Amino acid sequence: MTSIQDEMQIPPRIAEGGTVAEKEFIVRRLEERDLPALEWNGEFLHFRNLFLQAFEDMRMGTRLLLVMEHRPSGEIVGQIFLQWNSSDPRFADGRRRGYLYSLRVKPAFQRRGLGTRLMDAAEEILRQRGMDTASIGVEKDNRDARSLYERQGYRIIAEDAGCWSYIDHLGKRQEVSEPAWLMEKKIS
Ligand SMILES: CC(C)(COP(=O)(O)OP(=O)(O)OC[C@H]1O[C@@H](n2cnc3c(N)ncnc32)[C@H](O)[C@@H]1OP(=O)(O)O)[C@@H](O)C(=O)NCCC(=O)NCCS
Repeated sequence: MTSIQDEMQIPPRIAEGGTVAEKEFIVRRLEERDLPALEWNGEFLHFRNLFLQAFEDMRMGTRLLLVMEHRPSGEIVGQIFLQWNSSDPRFADGRRRGYLYSLRVKPAFQRRGLGTRLMDAAEEILRQRGMDTASIGVEKDNRDARSLYERQGYRIIAEDAGCWSYIDHLGKRQEVSEPAWLMEKKIS
């Protein structure tokens, strides 16, 4: 089955990179075989079910999961997830506003532009869907990520209590409370 997402293309300058240093990494859609790599050798094992659900949602066409692969080693070193719809239209409304989340880059690969490149790729995909606004949440105490987003043109538009829950890898419900800022950027 071919979905709209299969037809979306990340421009080569973002997917493949322009400079020699950038070309060491590629941004691509997550494949099923990549799922264990999202657990980062156990650090995110508790999110196993969430990753699986997000992957199923991608198959259904409601989300897109992008990863960054270090080409020489094949290691997955970063990720960003996108969703088009949300129960809260401040996050995504399925039409003009899309939500970016779960951005992370492995510590050893941080501060060399990879997080920014993942965001560029995600914003480009929202544009291809005809969306003109990207939103992203950032925990209030995550000043580094907030400053990165501000440098990328995101502005705070709302507070979010950040209360949510998930079923961990042992089948136990975990409640999360992460007070956050909701930020947005015009991308058209
Ligand atoms: C937030 C996060 C994704 C950023 O990833 P990253 O790959 O380090 O991002 P970048 O390299 O594009 O940008 C980070 C900073 O490095 C700087 N930078 C970019 N290229 C650089 C380079 N070659 N040399 C030095 N610094 C560089 C950027 O200017 C940016 O600075 P700023 O924060 O002052 O704006 C990463 O720190 C992370 O995974 N953190 C843990 C998870 C997390 O907090 N995720 C966000 C959830 S809201």
